Amino acid sequence: MKNKDKDMNEIINHLKTFGFVFQSSEIYGGLSNTWDYGPLGILLINNIKKNWWKKFITLESKNVGFDSKVILNSKVWQSSGHLQNFADPLIENKINNKRYRADHIYEEITNQNSSSLTDKELENWIKENVKEYDNSKTDWTEIKHFNLMFKTAQGVVEQTKNQLYLRPETAQGIFINFNNVQRAMRLKLPFGIGQIGKSFRNEVTPGNFIFRTREFEQMELEYFTFPNDDENAYKYYVEKSKNFILDLGINKESIRLRIHSEDELAHYAKATTDIEFEFPFGWGELMGIANRTDFDLKAHNKFSDIELKYFDQESNQTIIPYVIEPSVGVDRLMLAIIVDSFCIEQIDQKDSRIIMKLDYKLCPYKVCVLPLVKAQSLQSKKIMEYLNENDIETNFDESGSIGKRYRRQDAIGTFWCITYDYDSDIDNSVTIRNRDTMKQERIKIDQIIDYINKNSNTK
Ligand code: GAP
Repeated sequence: MKNKDKDMNEIINHLKTFGFVFQSSEIYGGLSNTWDYGPLGILLINNIKKNWWKKFITLESKNVGFDSKVILNSKVWQSSGHLQNFADPLIENKINNKRYRADHIYEEITNQNSSSLTDKELENWIKENVKEYDNSKTDWTEIKHFNLMFKTAQGVVEQTKNQLYLRPETAQGIFINFNNVQRAMRLKLPFGIGQIGKSFRNEVTPGNFIFRTREFEQMELEYFTFPNDDENAYKYYVEKSKNFILDLGINKESIRLRIHSEDELAHYAKATTDIEFEFPFGWGELMGIANRTDFDLKAHNKFSDIELKYFDQESNQTIIPYVIEPSVGVDRLMLAIIVDSFCIEQIDQKDSRIIMKLDYKLCPYKVCVLPLVKAQSLQSKKIMEYLNENDIETNFDESGSIGKRYRRQDAIGTFWCITYDYDSDIDNSVTIRNRDTMKQERIKIDQIIDYINKNSNTK
């Protein structure tokens, strides 16, 4: 089944039922567009992050990791341009008193990008053409710009002078530490600094489940390179990012690359490629790779007391490096992985099953051990502990018929089910069942790890 034919509500219900995602603050009526991750959701997220870290930090010997704070000195946001530029064009319908993204209305109706239009042109177009919207007649206001940064304060006295913000991207925490990291680690250009962390945006139109939320997590790499090598590095990271997504098991038909036109580039970018994914609600940006040039380092050099720069011993020159930035949201990537792997399979005329066909390395549980009867629980738990000690995430399920237990594990993406039965005590063997093929094999208990390592087809 294609992603566009999948039912988003069915997927959301499935995720709630099986402990991946819950409505946040549910007992108090919820908080709009805010979701908490349950026991299985957090296991999946941890596996996604582990894979990003491996691909973008560990396996790239020139790259290092970092962790900066959510609240930074406000001057960071002045220098980066976020205070002036990080704003969406808002238009209000005076009849229903609702505010909308003007660019989204235009794009939804025309199916065309709005970035070449000025605010006035956009506003006039909407006033002339959109007489009814969101089940209401319309009487539009002027477009106003709304800054997306969440405001906060620090200390016991709220002073306007000390206005602080929650970071809208993790990147700036890296830029302002460029000198610290380069010196401490004695890094030679080119090198990258990456981090995973929370970002906050007071989005005007959050929604589509965890696709666009106000609190979310990003995985960002800032790759610093020589100014004349920026295009090679950009190409390298576009290709690498695409392969990273495909290696997570996402089908190649579910993604496409979109190069930004000049008039749609962010204020800091010379070039940007989005990797888009086909969600049930349409194609949407999954990951962006931007050539940020020397914009950010130069901006901080202008406004701070310390110059962020690199001395190249070979050419005996001081350089302000260019930055290539692959950036992806953890929550959005998790949604893409879930949508792509969610299937309903007809087994025979009467029977069907839901499977999350997750790549082995992402499965919340790689294995579930099932005792045929409760009297075999102790031996089964020993196998579970042994596999967990060997870093094979394993759970245990003893309730219900074996058939029902298989279905439950298919529904949460568990790659292998191991059944401990009456013969196991005698022949030291168990039955191992593959999630996707449903094929079963009898193997020796002391061969389980070898078998799993050999047969778990991970990319
Ligand atoms: N540092 C560059 C940057 O933040 P962006 O395109 O605004 O660029 C990068 O964001 C990625 O972060 C997006 O591709 C998306 O995966 C994720 N993202 C952005 N806003 C989000 C939101 N409100 N909710 C969930 N994920 C979001």
